[in-house]
Amino acid sequence: MTQPGYDAMADLYAATFPSAYQFPIEQHAAAAFAEVVSGREGVTVDVGCGLGHVTADLVGRGLDVIGCDPSVMMLDHARRTYPDLTFIEGEATLATLPEIKIAALIARFSLIHVEPTQVAEVLKGWSERLTADTPVLIAFQASDEPGPPIQFDHAVAPAWRWHPDEFSRILRQRGFDEDWRIVYRDNSYRFPVGHLLAHRR
Ligand SMILES: C[S@@+](CC[C@H](N)C(=O)[O-])C[C@H]1O[C@@H](n2cnc3c(N)ncnc32)[C@H](O)[C@@H]1O
Repeated sequence: MTQPGYDAMADLYAATFPSAYQFPIEQHAAAAFAEVVSGREGVTVDVGCGLGHVTADLVGRGLDVIGCDPSVMMLDHARRTYPDLTFIEGEATLATLPEIKIAALIARFSLIHVEPTQVAEVLKGWSERLTADTPVLIAFQASDEPGPPIQFDHAVAPAWRWHPDEFSRILRQRGFDEDWRIVYRDNSYRFPVGHLLAHRR
């Protein structure tokens, strides 16, 4: 699951996406997530944190957050931009994460890069690691076509779009129940974008 694409493109990516959110509703989703997590014991993990902008935004909203990403170059940017925050190298499996109490997980546009056959395994690992009621927010390029994920021509790395029902189904199978979802469409972007909040059963 290494990310040579993001390592090679990190500088361009940082120049292209200098801020945390592309559309205002993403910020509202993050704010709603922070509200749900607020007061929970433990650390929130930003899975596939990239440049760390969202990690920092959530810290600004009062959460204790660490970022985790497999791309050393993306992490290099994150660490230089936010020297006071903690970023660790690692995959969505959380295999490299120390034994900490996890308050919540947020995975924005990172599980899209995990081969669909492996996403169920990732979620199973999360399920084993998390205690009951732990919130998980996943953001992803969405598909309107029910059924399996569809690979698309992401500029940086192999990626798949998911129908929100399919993501919800696979989450349910692995021990998570959906709380809410947002699917938004913007004329300036070619795909619908999904946010799905679920919690460990
Ligand atoms: C589109 S960027 C999103 C970054 C950040 N989450 C955000 O919302 O701005 C995708 C990130 O997912 C990371 N990624 C790719 N494959 C991953 C994997 N298997 N596990 C965790 N993160 C992964 C990439 O290195 C990259 O930093």
